[in-house]
Amino acid sequence: MTPTDLDTLQRDLLDAVAGAGDLAALEDVRVAALGKKGRISELMKSLGAMPAEERKAFGQAVNGVKTAVAEALGARKQALDAGALAERLSSERADVTLPVRQGPLGEGRIHPVSQVWDEITEIFADMGFAIAEGPDIETDHHNFTALNIPEEHPARQEHDTFYFNEREDGSRMLLRTHTSPVQIRTMEASEPPLRIIAPGRVYRCDSDQTHTPMFHQVEGLVIDEETHLGHLKWVLEAFCKAFFEVDAVKMRFRASHFPFTEPSMEVDVGYAKVGDEIRIGEGDQWLEILGCGMVHPNVLRNVGYDPSKVQGFAFGLGIDRIAMLKYGMPDLRAFFAADLRWLRHYGFGVLDVPTLARGLSR
Ligand code: DAH
Repeated sequence: MTPTDLDTLQRDLLDAVAGAGDLAALEDVRVAALGKKGRISELMKSLGAMPAEERKAFGQAVNGVKTAVAEALGARKQALDAGALAERLSSERADVTLPVRQGPLGEGRIHPVSQVWDEITEIFADMGFAIAEGPDIETDHHNFTALNIPEEHPARQEHDTFYFNEREDGSRMLLRTHTSPVQIRTMEASEPPLRIIAPGRVYRCDSDQTHTPMFHQVEGLVIDEETHLGHLKWVLEAFCKAFFEVDAVKMRFRASHFPFTEPSMEVDVGYAKVGDEIRIGEGDQWLEILGCGMVHPNVLRNVGYDPSKVQGFAFGLGIDRIAMLKYGMPDLRAFFAADLRWLRHYGFGVLDVPTLARGLSR
């Protein structure tokens, strides 16, 4: 090979480098020139067979070609890289002004019943109440008899009870119709003094705009030696102010009847409806939110307490009811329809944990 041939080779290779349109084509050129079997590599290999006096000059010349081609390859690669990047930048454009997807924590919603449940728990916990629990599937004894509702009592009919099939001994389990059986279970399991609330699900065979077969109640129970009606009224009033986040509430204590309390009362909260908004503490509309009273001596006796030594009060509050009132949700059935649009509208952020320190619903 003559120096002229080397010049031609160099020109061919540099042309090929300049002509490579993308990184893959450039790589082919590199392999064809500098790869193991590439044209320059082959020339280098042929040096060994040359006479010593020719080898030096020819070697230097081939090396010169090699350096020139390698440099050209490097420069072309840089140019192609930059072009590829520019192309990606222009084709894969990201609109940074789009709103960021919030992810599960931001998008999930807490159901208003859960939120109100937590609000109620927070308020009573602050007053020193402990949380008690009982089973949804109850015995007739806990749901009725021990609560001073004997076999033939008309109150049993009013409860629209869901019963399970009769067992061999003739007894029937049932879905609890109220949270009051948790009073019995708590008193059976512990000695006075007691100060508990028991939030939970309850079941009645009933369904219309304000009734669903499953709904939620909170039971309250305070037993001590001198607990009286004044304490009951104060607790309920303090609760309502905290819950509705107002300085004053209008409450109406109406004489009523429950077998497990004596005397018994029903409590209404006063409100005004201004457009779609419900204002608690104003106006002259009333909504019944709970039943309450002093625990009947028979109930105390049924759990082995001595009514001449201890007494106390109890109350039962409808969670769904006061949730509707506080957050202006008109139809109870929507609570359980699992409609995402409803949940997005009325639901709460996952991190909006109600605390008294921060403000319950802020
Ligand atoms: N258990 C009653 C009901 O579901 C509500 C109730 C009334 C509970 C008076 C009480 C109470 O603890 O004292 O209708």
